[in-house]
Amino acid sequence: MADASMIIETRALCRSFGATRAVDSLDLSIFRGEIFGLVGPDGAGKTTVLRMLAAILNPTAGHATVAGFDTVKKSEAIKAHLGYMSQQFSLYGDLSVLENMNFFADIFGIKRQARAGRIDRLLDFSRMRKFSARRAAQLSGGMQKKLGLACTLIHEPEILLLDEPTTGVDPVSRREFWDILTELHITGTTIVVSTPYMDEAERCSRVGLMYQGRLMVCDAPSRIRMMVDGELLAFRPENLQRAAALLNGQPGVLEIQTYGDLLHIFVDAAARRGPEIIERLAQAGLSCAGPWPAQPRMEEAFISLIGKQAGK
Ligand SMILES: Nc1ncnc2c1ncn2[C@@H]1O[C@H](COP(=O)(O)OP(=O)(O)O)[C@@H](O)[C@H]1O
Ligand SMILES: [Mg+2]
Repeated sequence: MADASMIIETRALCRSFGATRAVDSLDLSIFRGEIFGLVGPDGAGKTTVLRMLAAILNPTAGHATVAGFDTVKKSEAIKAHLGYMSQQFSLYGDLSVLENMNFFADIFGIKRQARAGRIDRLLDFSRMRKFSARRAAQLSGGMQKKLGLACTLIHEPEILLLDEPTTGVDPVSRREFWDILTELHITGTTIVVSTPYMDEAERCSRVGLMYQGRLMVCDAPSRIRMMVDGELLAFRPENLQRAAALLNGQPGVLEIQTYGDLLHIFVDAAARRGPEIIERLAQAGLSCAGPWPAQPRMEEAFISLIGKQAGK
């Protein structure tokens, strides 16, 4: 391994399930202290990557090292360095918040002297103190995730692998969960988190976009946003589908994405193409509000990158 600041490294990592290539030749380098986002649609391979990094699933080809240990040859050594919260992370519903934390402290062999202080800090850190006596089954979805995180942190791992920790959680709890992650990040914990939410991807130091088992792009959010070609204009035509069909292939139109009741159109030159597009729609009898200049976000960039890949 070349770089000591690299804490996770995969080389040509593959995992197949029968004929399905869940993960295909993944080369990933994650640096100590990063908050790294693994993003991609359902079935992209995110969970399979995280399970291999957590050393609970063997690759079918290639290899990975985590904290300097090979995930196959040294899988037991890795576990002390790692907290892994699976997509279906399960708490004990009949146990209280405090009892769940004690249970995980038992599993990780946390000694009595260290335990009380640590649980105390985690109760504050996860904003769960008020609920310490409540049974886990009676917590809201968002609170269950926070408790899951607290239990995952009980052995103070230097690396945290979180598989869609906020999926299905309400927006306020999602934000709070991310505030907690940001605090962990500041203390130096390396975090790898998968998410289907683009606003969360924006909060990562770097993001890897997975699609059909492959890593399509891996960079800082600000750089990914700049990867799309052309300038972005937003329009609100009276008939979205008809307008999109009419404009497909129009000179200077690079790409069309629908966005709620808006059309997001990438063009080669906004000043010139904006009026041309309005004109084209008017000829077909379609009225249209706009154009408004828009800043491509990661969402647009990802749709564009996936679209190009799918079109190949
Ligand atoms: N245990 C398994 N057996 C068979 N196929 C699997 C298994 N785990 C994952 N897959 C397949 O691998 C692909 C990637 O799945 P997964 O890693 O769960 O993606 P994601 O987490 O991005 O939704 C999917 O096509 C999925 O159906
Ligand atoms: Mg998954």
